[in-house]
Formats: sequence, structure tokens, C-alpha cells
Amino acid sequence: MKKIYLLAAALSIFACGQQQEKNVPLYLDPDAPIEARVEDALSRMTLEEKNAMTHAQSKFSSPGVPRLGIPELWHSDGPHGIRPEVLWDEWNQAGWTNDSCTAFPALVNLAATWDCELSRLYGECIGAEARYREKDILLGPGINMGRTPLNGRTFEYMGEDPYLASRLVVPYVQGVQSNGVAACVKHFAVNNQETNRTATNSVVDDRTLYEIYLPAFKAAVDGGAWAIMGSYNLYNGQFNCHNKKLLCDILKDEWGFDGVVISDWGGCRDDDEAVTNGLDIEMGTWTNGLRGAASDSYQNYHLARPYLERLRDGRASEEVLNDKARRILRTIFRTSMGKEQHFGSFTSPEHFAASRKIAAEGLVLLKNDGVLPLQVPQDGKILLVGENAYKMMTVGGGSSSLKAKYEVIPLDGIKEAFAGKAEVKWERGYVGDTQTSYNKVNTGQDLSESRSAIQLGQDAVAAAKEADCVIFIGGLNKSKYQDNEGTDRLDIGLPYCQDELIEALSEVAKRLVVVNISGSPVSMPWADKVNAIVQAWYGGSEFGHALADVLTGVVNPSGKLPFTIPYALADGPLKTERQYPGIMEEGKQWWQEYYDEGVFIGYRWYDTKQIPVQFPFGYGLSYTDFELSGATVKPSGKGWTVTAVVKNVGKLAGAEVVQLYISDTEASVERPAKELKGFEKVFLNPGESRKLSFSVDRQALSFFDAEKHEWVAEPGEFHALLGTSSEDIKADLVFSLK
Ligand code: BGC
Repeated sequence: MKKIYLLAAALSIFACGQQQEKNVPLYLDPDAPIEARVEDALSRMTLEEKNAMTHAQSKFSSPGVPRLGIPELWHSDGPHGIRPEVLWDEWNQAGWTNDSCTAFPALVNLAATWDCELSRLYGECIGAEARYREKDILLGPGINMGRTPLNGRTFEYMGEDPYLASRLVVPYVQGVQSNGVAACVKHFAVNNQETNRTATNSVVDDRTLYEIYLPAFKAAVDGGAWAIMGSYNLYNGQFNCHNKKLLCDILKDEWGFDGVVISDWGGCRDDDEAVTNGLDIEMGTWTNGLRGAASDSYQNYHLARPYLERLRDGRASEEVLNDKARRILRTIFRTSMGKEQHFGSFTSPEHFAASRKIAAEGLVLLKNDGVLPLQVPQDGKILLVGENAYKMMTVGGGSSSLKAKYEVIPLDGIKEAFAGKAEVKWERGYVGDTQTSYNKVNTGQDLSESRSAIQLGQDAVAAAKEADCVIFIGGLNKSKYQDNEGTDRLDIGLPYCQDELIEALSEVAKRLVVVNISGSPVSMPWADKVNAIVQAWYGGSEFGHALADVLTGVVNPSGKLPFTIPYALADGPLKTERQYPGIMEEGKQWWQEYYDEGVFIGYRWYDTKQIPVQFPFGYGLSYTDFELSGATVKPSGKGWTVTAVVKNVGKLAGAEVVQLYISDTEASVERPAKELKGFEKVFLNPGESRKLSFSVDRQALSFFDAEKHEWVAEPGEFHALLGTSSEDIKADLVFSLK
């Protein structure tokens, strides 16, 4: 369809060009400035044409202006690969045979790399896949903050720290958009749980909003994001897909966002607010028409017929409609009708190589008594135990579910790595999730099991006794109440009695390595009893290879936790039901959820309250050792420069992430013990060192003063803390603001 529009437009340019060189309508001239093209196109459009653009015409597309040769917009999930084509009106895949994509690692895996260049590479690759598949808007990345470890979508986000997410989101967005595809940053805002996600009002004070929940979105906007998706929940008692304060006051007025605001699928709930409160395109609304298959059910959308009626009888102004149309036209001129024509590329060897690199660099080594990298005697025996060594994970989990061209499972990756050297066997150990399909995409695996739970455990333990090394590969999966859209987890413990199985294995195994695959923190009560622990993620197409690379030492691990792993859920900041999952108050229509903990989430909570955690934020080991020395802080320009030298003092090449935290010891408001304000990942050969330099400006010292509605840095003493996790601080430098 889109190709036909483009062809029509091209032919009209060609025909005009034959007669008179400049006789091309301005909006079709790719060399003309975008704003001039927008105004020209707008001036040619009827009221009905402008209105049509503001709502969906199918599950994942919204209209262009066929009469003018302006193509429709095609939207696609996002954010870990390009979703398979779906039927016009349904979530189910359409059954195409040419839409199997490269599955990239989950965004939490990207966050664990702490590597901005890899984030750009990720964006460039996924953007190229989107462009090849003729998608104009990629529905991602997701950057909601890890407020609770239970959030079912933690795996789709970038961790618990606003600074980390701010640094990583920008190159991803720019990488995607370098392909002429808009990145649609989601879900705006304070959407931090799946429980009652479409019926919960988040009650958040302004300081918390500005310090914790908005910075990554602001960074994305400042970094040039072309699209933002409103979230399902309410804030200030108003649904976020048409929330005046979030969309009109903050996003568009305060931040000057000139792109398009898209509703989450079905997130638009009100005829009037949809018009006036900053929404530009309404997608996915579950109208009765859709359910009852009316002839054109999309006409029942809030921004469809109801909006047109309001425009016609004067209840809605054309100026507001023009603003929406301008933003939509701008998006089209930035993407499919952009100056540079991109064609993209799909499932290329480069994309799979990037996927493998990101997957490997995000693996976090949490414990190692020297057992890794794995050495096994020639013809030795390696036993893998656990369902996740075998189960494919790119299918499932909600809208980020993919149809991957291939997925290397850990069992195959590890077998390949040890081919000709050791025997690799697998015991399932427990039954977790036997589902193999989502939206009619099937992995083709058979996960049925005839053995009883007791038998499975006994078989695994018996086999473990015979092995030179046991690698337990378990964790969570993408089924309901785990890492999954639509539901939250119920606890932070491992499901399916895995703790007991790991304990039993630890009693008989000569060496036991635990690989936990999850998208969110799990408690590890057996941590002292095993030889090594690797935190792994949903790693995409090349996961099995990436994991084998790290286990064997082909890749030296350099991932760092993007969130805290606590000992117990109860240690965290959310203590009451009113904080999580929210309460139903008398006379209220929606669940009310009070962010009483304020800015104290993640390590901000644990560090400030001095609560011990299992593994701190920013933590991760390497097969080599690093030393940090010579740290200094000096005034420079309007701020300060913090420097230090990092040296690889071990025997292997590797990477360290040096982290800069700022601590404000005396302030008129309660502040976190420390906050991340800088980091750099450095790759060093043995013996090599590098001098690092971090700039600290007033903003890095500030808190948000809600009354003044501005950032405030109070004079006094501050500490610049340099370290390798929020707990491992190697240098404490004092400086003051006059
Ligand atoms: C999700 C979005 C997704 C959209 C389209 C919604 O349910 O919350 O993240 O992009 O569906 O699939």
C-alpha cells in the first residue's frame, strides 16, 4: 500500500519535472526544509484528511493522505526485534514466511553492558531491521524505572537508575533514527508495574517525578526522539495517554518536544481529553466495533468520528487539530518521506554478530571462586541442569515477543564450544513453563514431560555425581507472573523449587556454576554454596553462543548490574499496600498507588538506610583485576573535574566500568546517600592503564525543588565517590560549592 503512495508521489514529481523543473509541490521536495514541507502539506489538506491521520486504521498502522501521495505510518514493536506481521485487525501473526527477525537481547541486558557505543549499535541494527520491513515507528525503547523488582516488564526496561537509563537511551534512539525510523520512547510516565496497569492512579510528588521518573524521558527528548508513547496508568487522576500535565505542560511546553505522541494500544479512554490533552495518534482502542466487527470499527475511536463531530460543530478547534497533523506530517517527512531514503537490512550476519556481542557484554559475573573460565579435562563430563538450558525465550512475554530467524539455546551453544573436548549432557531437573507459542508463533520445541517432579530432581542429582562440572541454567521465563507483560511477579524467589534443586546439586557436584536467566532480580539463598554465579538475561538469537563465550573465557565478562539484588523483597522500599500494588479507596474509581518512598528506590534506598543487599547496583566481576588510583577533584569552568587512573593489573584483557557517585552530606531535604552521575567503560590489556575524567556540573549536585519548580544546588560540601559498584567505593573526594 505504502509503496503505491510513494510511486504516485514520485510519478507526479517526474511528470512535473518534465514540464517545469521547479513545479514540484513543496511538500514532495525532499530538499525543502521539513517545516516548509509540513506547512505546505497542511495547507492542502481537508479537515477530514487531518482528522483521519489522528487514529489507527489497523492494529499497527495509521493513515496518511492517499490523495496527496503521503504514505500511512506503520508502527511495530519493539523493543528487542521487529515483531512479525500481524493480521489487519488482530494480534495474531499473519503467517508470512519472510518476517523472521534478528532477536536482540532484552533492554535490561543492554543496560547491564553500561556501554553507550553498544547501545548505539543496538539502535542502528534494530532500526535497519525496522526500515527493511517498512516500519516507520519502532515502539521502543522502554525506560520506566525499576521501582519494584516484581514489575513484570523489568526485562524491557533499563534498570533502576535515571542517570544510567538517560545515558543509554540517547544512542539507542539516535541509532534507530539514523535509519529514518522514529523511536517511540515508552511508557510515559510513572508506569512501574503491570498489576492493574490500566486502572491505577500513580500519586507521585513533583520532586520524585522530576528526579527519578522523568530524567530518562527528558534525555531522550533532548537527544532528538521523534515519538513518545503515553502509558496505560493514570497520574494526577488523568489517564496518561491524554494527561494534560505530562503531555502538554511538561513534554510539549517545558521540554519543547516537537514529535508525535502516540497512545499505548487501548490507552485512550476519553473523547474530550483525547482531543485537548496532547495526544496526537490514538492506537489500539478496544471499541465495541472492533469486538463486534462493525464495517469500519476504527471510526469508533475517540479521535475518529467523535472528534470529527466536535470539529464540525465547533466544540473542537481546528488549531489543535493542526498541531496534531503537523506533528504527524513531521514524523512522515522524517521517516518514509525523509530526505535520505533508507532501505535497511534484515537478519544480516552483522546484526547477529551485534546481537551476540551485546548479549555477551551484558552477562554479569556475580561470584567466582576460580572455577570460571571453565577448564575440563580432555573428554571430561559437563552436565547442564535446568529448563532454561533448553527453552527458547524469544517467544512470549507480551508485545516484545518475537519470531526469530533462529535462537541458539544454551545447550547448543555450550555443546558447540566443547565439541571434541568434553561431553555435554542435559538434565531438565524441573518443569517450568511448557508453553511454546505466542500469538500463533511457535518455537517448534516439545516441552512435554512424562517424569514426575521428584524423578526429575533425582535424575539431575544422580547425573551431577558423575560430572566433572555442573552448570545449573534456570531462573525465570516469560510466562504469567514472571517476566511478562500484563502481570507482575508474586515474589522474588525462584519458582518451581529451583532453590531446593540447587542446594541438592551443591551437595554432590564437584563444581557447581549457577546461571540465572531472568529479566528482574531474584533472591539467591544458595549463593554461598555454589562456586560461581552468572546473572544472564533474555539474550536473543545468539544467547547460547554468548553464554558459552563467557563461560569458556572467549569473552571476559564485563557486565554490571543495572539494579540491586536484595536478600528479600521485604528489605525494599515498598512496605505497604498503598505503595504497591495500590489500594481501592472508597468513592474512588481507580486504584490509588502512593509513591510514599519518594526518591528512595533501588540503591538510593538500600544505601541510605544501610540495608545489606545480596549484590549491589553496578556490581559485576571480571576474569582480570583492576586498580583505581590517583583520584583527584578540581574546579574547572563552571563545575569540577574528577579524574582517576584505572589499570588492568591482571593477566587477561578485560573491561571495567568506573562509576562516579555524588553525595550531598548536608541538605535542606533528605537526599540519597549517593547518586550515580557519571560512568565510563574502559577496555584494557594486561598492564595497560587509562586516565579517566568526569565533568561534574551544578545539575549533578542538585535536587528538584518542587515549590520553586527548579533544580537547586545548595552551597556546602559534596563528595565525589569513585568506585566499581554503589558499594565498592575506592576513592572519596571532598569538594565544596560556594
Ligand atoms: C504495550 C506496548 C506495545 C503495544 C503494541 C501494549 O500493550 O504496552 O508496549 O508497544 O501494546 O503492541
